[in-house]
Amino acid sequence: MRIINCHTYEAMSRKAADILAAQIQLKPNCVLGLATGTTPIGSYQGLIKRYESGSLDFSEVRTYNLDEYRGLTHEDPQSYHYFMNDQLFNHVNIDPANVHVPDGANADADAACADYDRMVAEAGYCDLQLLGIGRNGHIGFNEPADEFSKGTHCVDLTESTIEANSRLFEKEEDVPRQAYTMGTQTIMNARCILVVANGENKAQAVRDMCFGPIVPACPASILQLHPNVFVVCDDAALSLCEGLY
Ligand code: PGA
Repeated sequence: MRIINCHTYEAMSRKAADILAAQIQLKPNCVLGLATGTTPIGSYQGLIKRYESGSLDFSEVRTYNLDEYRGLTHEDPQSYHYFMNDQLFNHVNIDPANVHVPDGANADADAACADYDRMVAEAGYCDLQLLGIGRNGHIGFNEPADEFSKGTHCVDLTESTIEANSRLFEKEEDVPRQAYTMGTQTIMNARCILVVANGENKAQAVRDMCFGPIVPACPASILQLHPNVFVVCDDAALSLCEGLY
């Protein structure tokens, strides 16, 4: 794992945008795995800036997002698809036909997940997968569990995730209880992985991801087995890793 301390959220976001932009420059029709959450917002803003200045072209880029709430359509303002449109896709020249998010509106969980796995596999998996990390070490909606997950699957969100996400909904009852998420194996199939993390509340998860035992109780710890991972952080997220890298 290559750990890069960028000191601040702004510098972390610039570095992540640089890595994503380099991937698009190297392979204009690359497959990007993308993530929602507050952490990548600055990275997406960096990509929009590079597009607006004429240095980045998304016309051939294909994207696959990690997860989506079960029961929400892509037009629902609380859906992850809407978030991606709002934070990135509506501001760059990506072809909407090249954008993929699990279909939260498909109530048939087995079909929705199998369809998504097939699409990611047919695309040849991701050239570069962007990931945030949860305070409990989750990646996508792969929560701490007794075993690592494999393909796309339907998850029951944990109470702590429902509570953390309720800040984005009017009432806690409105937060969906289930989601479709890419599995750990699908994530590991990416040829390069870029993890972004900032803030003190991620420090333990970052330490466990990079230096802890490889156990499904910390889903991100499996990334230690991947040959090509960049972990890009601010000072606070790396505060428990001093002297270790
Ligand atoms: P956050 O979420 O970026 O909103 O902290 C990250 C995650 O839970 O994967």
